[in-house]
Amino acid sequence: MNQLVAQIEQYKKEMEATQVSNKEALEAFRIKYLGTKGLVKSIMGEMKNVPADQKKEAGQLLNEFKIFTETFFETLSQSVETDDTTNSDTIDTSLPGQPFALGSRHPISIVHNKIVSIFQRLGFSVAEGPEIEDDWHNFTALNLPENHPARDMQDTFYISQNPDWLLRTHTSSVQIREMAKKELPLRIICPGRVYRNETISARAHCFFNQVEGLYIAENVSFADLKQTLYFFVKEMFGENVKVRFRPSYFPFTEPSAEMDISCLICSGEGCSVCKRTGWVEILGCGMVHPSVLDNCGIDSKKYTGFAFGMGIERITMLTYQVKDLRLFSENDVRFLQQFTQAL
Ligand code: DAH
Repeated sequence: MNQLVAQIEQYKKEMEATQVSNKEALEAFRIKYLGTKGLVKSIMGEMKNVPADQKKEAGQLLNEFKIFTETFFETLSQSVETDDTTNSDTIDTSLPGQPFALGSRHPISIVHNKIVSIFQRLGFSVAEGPEIEDDWHNFTALNLPENHPARDMQDTFYISQNPDWLLRTHTSSVQIREMAKKELPLRIICPGRVYRNETISARAHCFFNQVEGLYIAENVSFADLKQTLYFFVKEMFGENVKVRFRPSYFPFTEPSAEMDISCLICSGEGCSVCKRTGWVEILGCGMVHPSVLDNCGIDSKKYTGFAFGMGIERITMLTYQVKDLRLFSENDVRFLQQFTQAL
């Protein structure tokens, strides 16, 4: 047994003293120690000479030695391999490295982030809701009862398992969910994806993104709405952009308006984008209809509020002068990689 221990120690010392600087020396090392006729195999053969009562201990010792040798060999091979590549004449280590292909944000995300940050500066916080909605939140509570003609304005995807379920047609549904919590005053924006059963073209898609805004408190007026939207437009499109409000109709607001900005492409001169009018519509807005407040359990005698809703694709198309809405969902990398700058 003592002899075995001494022999192992001897081998270990020899191993540690061996110089292995290339693949040939490494292979010689492997054959000498780990080959079929190598030293590890042969010392293992010594087991048969060990007395029965010491076999267990000797077995452990030999096993440890085998593992030691294998690990030692592994370490040697790694150092030979790295030496080989760094010293190789075929690689010029002074060459610059391979450039990393950097990803870029989707233009819709860039504009989404910008819109959110503008309203956050005004004290609005972000609220989200489900894309699968029920009839109450998407229509009824927003003053669009069944058979109301305004429901025709939105062709809806219903979910076949339950006639009460649908893919939300606008993010106004999130207004209802937030108002129902009755934590007033309420100042939120609700960005998210919406769905409409429309034929896909350069100007329409069956899914797109909206941002809804809502402010409910005591004494909120139409002047507050205008001031908020003026600020938004200047921050989003610059100081020189002109704004106008046109009276409109939405069942969930009274009075209602649509907001136009002067065309960014022709600066109001008239071009194909603004259909020669000099103006482009960017959002709908108005004072929250008292029945909508009542539907959510908010006292419409005490509280008033304004709401607005805009399509993110629209704002993105104007910002980057993109003429075809389909580009946003086709995921063509040649299109997407042009948008490298945060706004
Ligand atoms: N929900 C409207 C739509 O999808 C957009 C909208 C218009 C939202 C007026 C509003 C609003 O909050 O006041 O077309």
